[in-house]
Amino acid sequence: MTEQTCIEFDDVVAGYGEFMILNNLSFKAQRGKITLLLGPNGAGKSTVLKTLFGLLKVRQGRIRLDGQDITGSSAKQLLAHGIAFVPQGRNLFGQLTVWQNLELGGITLGMKTTHERIPEVLERFPRVKERLHSQASALSGGEQKQLEIARAMLLRPKVILIDEPSIGLSPMIVRSVFVLLRQLADQGTTVLMVEQNVKSALGISDEAVALESGRRVLQKPAQELLADPHIERLFLGGAHAPTASTQAAA
Ligand SMILES: Nc1ncnc2c1ncn2[C@@H]1O[C@H](COP(=O)(O)OP(=O)(O)O)[C@@H](O)[C@H]1O
Ligand SMILES: [Mg+2]
Repeated sequence: MTEQTCIEFDDVVAGYGEFMILNNLSFKAQRGKITLLLGPNGAGKSTVLKTLFGLLKVRQGRIRLDGQDITGSSAKQLLAHGIAFVPQGRNLFGQLTVWQNLELGGITLGMKTTHERIPEVLERFPRVKERLHSQASALSGGEQKQLEIARAMLLRPKVILIDEPSIGLSPMIVRSVFVLLRQLADQGTTVLMVEQNVKSALGISDEAVALESGRRVLQKPAQELLADPHIERLFLGGAHAPTASTQAAA
């Protein structure tokens, strides 16, 4: 199967107010693959997702989706183009039920289509399906994250942007969220993920892109990076994290 570029950042500059965070950033993410964004805190990983989702203005450069220029599109337009965003943290209406959260997720589709799609999406999320009439806030952290992903899947997105899905989840639940993302990618969804849980995330990813100060410092196949003996020093806690030998000496 030939690789096809789905997302392309081409020399992108973006930031907050006067502060530019992404500095001439270029990278590509292939269709139906999981691309993992790595880098120390503050490197600009979340900013990449927010910029791609139209929440920040692109000051320079272009962003393309399947070869089409989407620079400057609004979040609403990007949703219509098939991009879904699952931000970091909790993003549900906690007082509403699971079902109501799903209905709201399909608001742009209309009720009829939403109601047709909900059972279909829930096939992949048995834990969420069992809790349809519970208040969203009563779900465990892992179930809530699964509900957020289920809600995004209602839109049948081409691309899922997901920021640190593992935060606050137990290792076993993280595993199930990662397996789910892997399945979605294998069925053709392009996944762009930010994760601090580097080793396990690399285990289910295809490609890794590392950022430092809003620039790409590395892009290589996830398996290759996983096999790199310097991975700890490179990415677990940033460039200045102690190496295994200095830790042993301490
Ligand atoms: N809403 C904001 N307003 C101003 N600066 C921000 C905002 N969000 C993030 N930043 C700054 O942008 C930089 C990159 O942040 P971010 O993309 O969240 O990094 P990462 O996700 O890699 O940890 C940081 O220096 C951060 O302080
Ligand atoms: Mg972040």
